[in-house]
Amino acid sequence: MTIRFILNGEDVKISAEANQRLINILREQLALTGAKCGCLCGNCGACSVIFNGAVSPSCLIPAFRVQGSEIITLEGFSQTLEYQDIAEGFSKAGVENCGYCDAGKILCAELLLEQSFQPSKEDFTAAFRGVRCRCTNAESLYQGILAAGEVRRRRTYGRVT
Ligand code: FES
Ligand code: FES
Repeated sequence: MTIRFILNGEDVKISAEANQRLINILREQLALTGAKCGCLCGNCGACSVIFNGAVSPSCLIPAFRVQGSEIITLEGFSQTLEYQDIAEGFSKAGVENCGYCDAGKILCAELLLEQSFQPSKEDFTAAFRGVRCRCTNAESLYQGILAAGEVRRRRTYGRVT
């Protein structure tokens, strides 16, 4: 079937089987490899994309659902100032970025920071329940989110509180 959608702000038209996984379309047809093939069953977050405004596992999205959708991948998001906030915050807090879970970790961080520059531990835990990071423990990751939130706050409002 022919599928049209918006990918990282650009109109895209592809041909795919209706039940083909979005993760495979991204990686094999569109050469976007920021989303990784992990568990392929929705449990690890390595294949995450922002799908119609929500962080979603692209391994569970069949091609027919992509029709008319809007998708942002890690590659698209990495071109934004918001990405820079998170990269700087994670770096300050010593959060590992081996690349495997970045799509889930960074895109979930963004949706969390859109709600608050200082998300609670409970909100962090809920937002990251679908992300499995083998390199960073949860507390370090939470500190990275808070550091990124502070970077975001300063960029938005300056240093005066
Ligand atoms: S590969 Fe999709 S959630 Fe693990
Ligand atoms: S940074 Fe390596 S798996 Fe998360």
